[in-house]
Amino acid sequence: MLLETRNVTKKFGALVAVNDVSVQVAQGTLHSIIGPNGAGKTTFFNLLSGNLKPTTGQIIYKGEDITRLPIHKTAHRGIGRSFQITNLFPSLTVLENVRLAAQAMGRDSFRFFTANRRLTQYTERAMTVIEQVGLKGEALQLARTLPHGAQRKLELAMILAPDPELLLLDEPTAGMASEQVPELMALIRNIQEAGNKTIMLVEHNMNVVMAVSDKITVMHQGAVLAEGMPSEIAANETVQTAYLGGLYKL
Ligand SMILES: Nc1ncnc2c1ncn2[C@@H]1O[C@H](COP(=O)(O)OP(=O)(O)OP(=O)(O)O)[C@@H](O)[C@H]1O
Ligand SMILES: [Mg+2]
Repeated sequence: MLLETRNVTKKFGALVAVNDVSVQVAQGTLHSIIGPNGAGKTTFFNLLSGNLKPTTGQIIYKGEDITRLPIHKTAHRGIGRSFQITNLFPSLTVLENVRLAAQAMGRDSFRFFTANRRLTQYTERAMTVIEQVGLKGEALQLARTLPHGAQRKLELAMILAPDPELLLLDEPTAGMASEQVPELMALIRNIQEAGNKTIMLVEHNMNVVMAVSDKITVMHQGAVLAEGMPSEIAANETVQTAYLGGLYKL
């Protein structure tokens, strides 16, 4: 297991946003978290990345307790999470944005180099991931001039820049035109397989989830409702009744 949560609970006052959640995420897998609006998916990611602290429970990453680590420390340990769109610098180029992500969140493997040499290394790293997400032609374009689909790719490049081992992707296809979704998902799957990375994905598009996931955890009102392979989730009656039934024809 790369990541494990043990009875993680997060309360906001009287509201239990994440309720006693224990999940195990195997190294190298694509593990999706699904559930209706307000189920606690984003809050759960915020707990994993260190944006929020659990009220109770433990988070174990690579055998170490990271429950109370702040976000910059989880980043240095290799957990990458999506940047909010506001973390993008609209007046900087694609390259500058990705280079900043590499520098700011990086594990600083270049710290032995001189400042100039480091900048070159960060630029090279940025260009590598920009190419990987298919934005090479737009590298010198200002971020704000990118169409929406390309901005989502830029976000992905920014998560990838520091070379995380675990990627937390919260609705990476949100707002995308449906014909662009398969391309982004193929890209994500490719990143996982080629880089031997572990990906946790929150996604509302059930066709996507069923197609790409190795394992699915279904959340409902903060708690885990079901867990299993896509075929098991699709066949699960509780899930169908509580959640998928009306929304998605399995
Ligand atoms: N900072 C906060 N303070 C108070 N309540 C919060 C906070 N963040 C989230 N919540 C509440 O916690 C619950 C879970 O929210 P969360 O955003 O984690 O759901 P979600 O599964 O990501 O939903 P969606 O699919 O709409 O993104 C909701 O009732 C939400 O209103
Ligand atoms: Mg959410």
